Amino acid sequence: MHQSDLISNDIDAYLKAHENKSLLRFITCGSVDDGKSTLIGRLLYESKMIFEDQLTTLEQDSKKVGTQGENIDFALLVDGLAAEREQGITIDVAYRFFATEHRKFIVADTPGHEQYTRNMATGASTADLAVLLIDARQGVLTQTKRHAFIASQLGVGHIVLAVNKMDLVDYSENVFNEIVEDFKAFAAQLDIPNLHAIPVSALVGDNIVDGSRFMPWYEGPSLLGYLEGVDVEAEETSLPFRMPVQWVNRPDLDFRGYAGRIAGGIIRPGDDIRVLPSGKQSKIARIVTMDSDLDEAVSGQSVTLTLTDEIDISRGDVIATSETPPEISDQFDTTIIWLSEEPMLPGRSYRMKTSSRLVSATVNAPKHKTDVNTLQKLPAKTLQLNEIGNCTLAVDRPIAFDSYAENRQTGSFILIDRMTNNTVGMGMINFPLRRAANIHWQNLDINKAANAEQKGQNPAVLWFTGLSGSGKSTIANEVQRRLYATGRHSFILDGDNVRHGLNRDLGFTDADRVENIRRVAEVSKLMVEAGLITLVSFISPFRAERELARNLMEEGEFIEIFVNTPLSVAETRDPKGLYKKARAGNLKNFTGIDSPYEAPENPEIEINTAEMSVEDAAERVINGLIERGIIEV
Ligand code: ADX
Repeated sequence: MHQSDLISNDIDAYLKAHENKSLLRFITCGSVDDGKSTLIGRLLYESKMIFEDQLTTLEQDSKKVGTQGENIDFALLVDGLAAEREQGITIDVAYRFFATEHRKFIVADTPGHEQYTRNMATGASTADLAVLLIDARQGVLTQTKRHAFIASQLGVGHIVLAVNKMDLVDYSENVFNEIVEDFKAFAAQLDIPNLHAIPVSALVGDNIVDGSRFMPWYEGPSLLGYLEGVDVEAEETSLPFRMPVQWVNRPDLDFRGYAGRIAGGIIRPGDDIRVLPSGKQSKIARIVTMDSDLDEAVSGQSVTLTLTDEIDISRGDVIATSETPPEISDQFDTTIIWLSEEPMLPGRSYRMKTSSRLVSATVNAPKHKTDVNTLQKLPAKTLQLNEIGNCTLAVDRPIAFDSYAENRQTGSFILIDRMTNNTVGMGMINFPLRRAANIHWQNLDINKAANAEQKGQNPAVLWFTGLSGSGKSTIANEVQRRLYATGRHSFILDGDNVRHGLNRDLGFTDADRVENIRRVAEVSKLMVEAGLITLVSFISPFRAERELARNLMEEGEFIEIFVNTPLSVAETRDPKGLYKKARAGNLKNFTGIDSPYEAPENPEIEINTAEMSVEDAAERVINGLIERGIIEV
């Protein structure tokens, strides 16, 4: 029976028939010119996963368009399905499902050009296999190399080189062999554990589903035959056991189970396990599912585990085999692929989602980036859209992980922008930085409380933010004079001054401003620990970094003071003549002119200097400190 009839008539029978088949996830790489759409169209067609009405349209369209004479133009099928992709999805990867007698398949189809690197990387991150399409007339192109590099970076263990359009090179064995040799010479620099090459013609159908009478010299399987037979499950199952806990299931006092999806290996009741990061040990009691208990569960299955001991486990912990548990660290060497139009900002705090939890991460400037076309390593200060680089990063608390080479699930992460919630990067952990593990906190007897007590005040940060020339430094100066006069201990960190010393290596690019504020935030934290009322006077144009500074302090310690002066007013004042220079084009990246200022949304104190004198502004700040109990009257 046609599969689509089975789906519409007896969905249960259809699902049953597919339940026990293994699943292969693969990605196709190449451009439309290589015959990619034709190839995918033919695979879908041959597996009879096209619905009758689609088939009729296809036959009609083929006749109408007429590129293939009386034959069906399979490219129309795929391109037709692709229309739905035009919606404003940031990462557009078309996933299609099809099945044969022997196996189920999910194919990710991504465009081939360099500007779609992020799409390919997204598709490849979950693929077991990549089909690299090569036009036999063209041989190995820069694009082929790029695809192979990205696939290998993302740990796609199986690569099938589909040398297409063999009909156009007289089915020449020599041409095929030369292309394969050429590719192998290049691939030697990459980590590709399994490589298989097949000469095909997607258009004619040679070696796609059946063999080809034109190429008796090729004795291997057809493409579909290879995809049906290649063994990928064994690889995930043979990994050490890992299960990130997604949910603690505690319906009553008698049952406590840990639910999650197994991210590697195999588990059975009685197995010894360790919980990370706590390191506590126990044994598996039961493997519970909706239907019944299991004797074993393997990678990819979602299950609930119960343990023989009552130990404290929460969402985000990882249950692992106790023999080879994952490592724990808070600093890593990683490979990052940048997915956002906004370049990466080293020093900015991003959200980082790993297989088990959501943490905060700060990425350092790349050690280098890799030219995806030549594999050359190039110096880089940041990563732009579609660029791949090697960066170290630090997270705000230790996490359990594996290297990506060992386990693609527990070794990967995505980076999310805090403000927009967009996914801006995807990354792979290469190794932990031991350095971090060897640095401990020293306990000091004279701590913040002691320092504050001695000075008879509550330390705090008064964070003045606003345009250049808004009056931040003038107001901060007046506030400090008043604090001093009443015996308070304070210190001013001023942008212009700090940029003469600690931050003299920094300019005014977005990345440098991020680092500028990160350092000042850290210094102001130290000053608060010293018990000081710390006045910070920096433009600090980005919300994200002001937020970072706020999060470094304790609740109530951070007072954001928005010195709100309209650009026109600041520009008229122009105390340093910088606006004039910027307008004349002699000063680049000037805040308010050609560099953004993101005004605070909920500052503790707001001062409009166009309407208020310096004295009144200082008075307002002092009153704010009294209201908040930082100083007493
Ligand atoms: S921030 O944006 O990184 O917070 P910061 O407060 O340290 O800036 O330094 C701003 C001061 O540097 C300004 O008051 C001004 O005197 C000077 N400056 C020089 N070039 C620029 C520029 N391109 N943009 C803003 N300020 C500049």
